[in-house]
Amino acid sequence: MTDEQRLQAFEARIASGEKIESDDWMPDLYRKQALRLILTHANSELMGALPEREWIPRAPGMHRKLAVLAKVQDEIGHAQLIYRVAEDLARPLGLTRDDFMKDLIAGRAKFHNVFSYPAPTWADVGVIAWLVDGAALVTQGALLRTSYGPYGRILRRICAEEAIHLKHGEDIVLTLAGGTKAQRQMLQDALSRWWEPLLHFFGPPDEVSPNTEQMVRWGIRLKSNEAMRQEFLQNYAPKILEIGLLVPDPALEKDPESGVWHYTQPDWDVFWKVVRGEGPKTKERLSLRRLAYEDQAWIRQAVQGAHHVA
Ligand SMILES: [Fe+2]
Ligand SMILES: [Fe+2]
Repeated sequence: MTDEQRLQAFEARIASGEKIESDDWMPDLYRKQALRLILTHANSELMGALPEREWIPRAPGMHRKLAVLAKVQDEIGHAQLIYRVAEDLARPLGLTRDDFMKDLIAGRAKFHNVFSYPAPTWADVGVIAWLVDGAALVTQGALLRTSYGPYGRILRRICAEEAIHLKHGEDIVLTLAGGTKAQRQMLQDALSRWWEPLLHFFGPPDEVSPNTEQMVRWGIRLKSNEAMRQEFLQNYAPKILEIGLLVPDPALEKDPESGVWHYTQPDWDVFWKVVRGEGPKTKERLSLRRLAYEDQAWIRQAVQGAHHVA
């Protein structure tokens, strides 16, 4: 078969809803685009554990401590599962998991912007687990039907766990909302802090690059950034307002006819700054990741059967 015939057969498989497996033929561009998306997700799970990890020693009470501990452990587990999927895709490109880690700690790899922000209060832990995990569930739910089979399958398990994280976050938020005046204020301040990063979460609305179009055509991605942001607003804005919290955007309103949520555009310059690695906590969290990577080198060497343990 010529490359042209291979490409036609590949696209016909995708069009008929077939899944692409790791050892199937695929265009180089498909491999690279899928790998970029999947690696960003894996890095985000790994880095996403850090803001809540800071709260394990300070969680109010044993029950909450166990819940945060379990969630952090789940997120690291998600990273492990997704890195495995990425490794298979990266092998023909000569890249290994060690390369992924080195790129991440050197600041060369992407992870979600939200994980570059501080979590100064316990209310931030609730807002992260409810709304950041809620936002992640919208994007991951949209990827369940991705054309890359191994990724779609692993997402089924991950989404089930994210749904539990969301309940855990909602429980913290509802407890604070029904608490003292100071607790309600702490919750309101946390929501106000997270509102802009949450709108940033799905990316700029006008992202129409040839890359994105190609990814949608090949079924790697299935929904636009704006469609996912609308889904998030539709799912969560009414609940936020229902518990008496204020959204720091007077323009937020649902158009009763079209069902479209209107909102003030967040500052996209801030978004790009964080993408460039200049978020308020980016460097600190990457150094923490670097420390963990160096500390655990002996375990990797032992597992890989190295003779010399550093
Ligand atoms: Fe996760
Ligand atoms: Fe999660």
